[in-house]
Amino acid sequence: MSTLTTEVEDFAAAMRSDAFRRDPYPVYARMRAECPVYRAPQGLWYVTRHADVEQALGDPRLSNDRERMTDALVARDGRMRDLSRLTARLGRVMSNTDPPDHARLRGLVNKAFTARRVEGLRERIQAVVDRLVDAAVAALEPGGPPTDLLTAVASPLPHTVVCELFGVPEPDRERVKEWFRGLGRIHEDIDRAERVVDAFEAYLLDLVERRRAAPGDDLISALVTAQARGDRLTDHELLSTCFMLITAGDETTTNLIGNGLLALLHHPDQLALLRAEPALIRAAVDETVRYDSPTQAILRVTAADVTLGGRTIPAGDLVHLLLASAGRDPEHHEHPDRFDLTRPAHRHLGFGHGPHFCLGAPLARLETELAIGTLVRRLPDLRPAVDPGRLDWRPNPLQRRLTALPVTCTSDD
Ligand code: HEM
Repeated sequence: MSTLTTEVEDFAAAMRSDAFRRDPYPVYARMRAECPVYRAPQGLWYVTRHADVEQALGDPRLSNDRERMTDALVARDGRMRDLSRLTARLGRVMSNTDPPDHARLRGLVNKAFTARRVEGLRERIQAVVDRLVDAAVAALEPGGPPTDLLTAVASPLPHTVVCELFGVPEPDRERVKEWFRGLGRIHEDIDRAERVVDAFEAYLLDLVERRRAAPGDDLISALVTAQARGDRLTDHELLSTCFMLITAGDETTTNLIGNGLLALLHHPDQLALLRAEPALIRAAVDETVRYDSPTQAILRVTAADVTLGGRTIPAGDLVHLLLASAGRDPEHHEHPDRFDLTRPAHRHLGFGHGPHFCLGAPLARLETELAIGTLVRRLPDLRPAVDPGRLDWRPNPLQRRLTALPVTCTSDD
């Protein structure tokens, strides 16, 4: 038996439990207190305190490099070889590259994915939200059966928005969603996932060629125009970047909307406050990212020996940076387990930090602000249909996602 398991609780086992899936925060609290830089018996590392996670995110020796990461994953588990075949096909994109190459890959997208472009989407996003909320309101009869707000609003919204952003024509959107679902089951059926990547790639290539011939006001057109001027991305890099951007903001944004609605529904005082002061919606979005982060953890691989929180992690090891635990660290956030919209502006790590800080954060914030703001305004009698303890969560320790968020509307009488 490893000496570590005798020193401290086997947190890796705790992280596989049903209780953890429902509520990971008590386990994170014990990890921060007892062993903030924890090496699991299987050799994976977990970093849980805000200060250590922040330091790690800014340290270039904690690498995102695709080959280095793949080697470490395959060394632990041979079955990862299939997965690595797929990621190798995807090629180099900003999310799997270290500086200085990272800056080149991110630079072109930065030029096209500007704050102005995102803000310019406000009206179009509001129109999509209104359409989805209209349908949800129609389904939610006072005193009637519950409606799942994930299916009704949180799931279709980011997909529709990203399709609009990329100029994916309306009739193709369901097909693209189907490909997403295929990629989501990548571990179950690798051959099917490979066929999905083939089809998705061919589709994107066609879309890029069409925009090259006739540019529009979508993001792909902006990328090909920027590429033609600066020649900073190869065609394959451009295609991989589109693929990554289309997939990066889908589930994450769904989860932020879902987790935010859940937090508000289960903190009626904060919901009442938001209703009284709608301008607090921006604070509500970031408080959700801190309080119940959609991205619970991100993975790095050490390119050299690195000392964090007094422990030395050897080169070549895989390290989980627990962003969600950092969000509940009492050394950084006062009363961290309180969901509090009036919290003084605070720095959380839920969108990352340093060179890989989430490129889509302004878009995710805008979508969530409009979705939650509109639902709260349009449905003053919204109620959770089940207790939080009875809600079901997907078994993915890196992402925090409800399987459904059933709500009802109280009747007036
Ligand atoms: C990176 C979270 C939405 C695109 C990241 C990172 C986090 C994150 C934690 C850092 C990863 C790392 O350091 O390894 C989230 C959350 C979202 C969200 C919680 C929604 C609530 C989006 C959206 C897009 C997007 C809507 C785009 C449409 C990206 C990209 C990167 C990234 C391209 C990689 C940046 C780089 O490597 O330089 N995101 N994200 N994200 N995100 Fe997001």
